Amino acid sequence: MAETPRPPRNETSVPIHDALAGRWSPRGFDPEYVVAEGDLTALGEAARWAPSASNLQPSHFIVGARGTGTFEKVYATLVDFNKAWTPRASLLIVAVAELEREGKQLRWAEYDLGQAVAHLSVEAESRGLNVRQMGGFDVAALRAAFDLPPELEPVSIVAVGKYTDADDLPEGIRERDAAPRTRRSLEELAIILDA
Ligand SMILES: Cc1cc2nc3c(=O)[nH]c(=O)nc-3n(C[C@H](O)[C@H](O)[C@H](O)COP(=O)(O)O)c2cc1C
Repeated sequence: MAETPRPPRNETSVPIHDALAGRWSPRGFDPEYVVAEGDLTALGEAARWAPSASNLQPSHFIVGARGTGTFEKVYATLVDFNKAWTPRASLLIVAVAELEREGKQLRWAEYDLGQAVAHLSVEAESRGLNVRQMGGFDVAALRAAFDLPPELEPVSIVAVGKYTDADDLPEGIRERDAAPRTRRSLEELAIILDA
């Protein structure tokens, strides 16, 4: 089967790394696609080698592959809108921050976790996979489903799979994926450009 053509890359004023220039977050996934074991391991390695404050590595991941009980448990906690498109994802990964260790607060735990997920998503892009992160889920339900202790905070759910714009996508998903993607300008990004 021919590869679904990718939409245009992110517009940048100067060239940046292919995996960053090409990264985007579709909701349209190929429901047959299975992430190869080697790719899954590489996503884990990318997250593992992310920097973290004092190298405390407070990031943890619950990984559910489509068709497994873990996937179903994660899926059940999503808000309805996210439930509409995630059944076709290959993986649902819960990103969990360890907020406290041995009675000490890990102040940058969520920051570190975000970096780990960013590394994972760039590695995914470089392997022809796609990632969409989600904040739309019931934290209490997820906590209960996996019996997470209070110091482990589920922060986001990461859908991983292979993009498709196939005709049988749930209503509106193709259109949303095809919608223009925008960013604030570089000037707006900089708080202080020159002293
Ligand atoms: C923390 C976080 C929470 C998000 N929550 C959702 C969500 O619940 N549902 C969804 O469809 N997309 C969600 N997104 C995806 C963003 O909307 C998306 O990354 C953003 O529009 C930029 O698009 P791009 O990733 O294609 O550049 C979330 C992204 C992040 C980083």
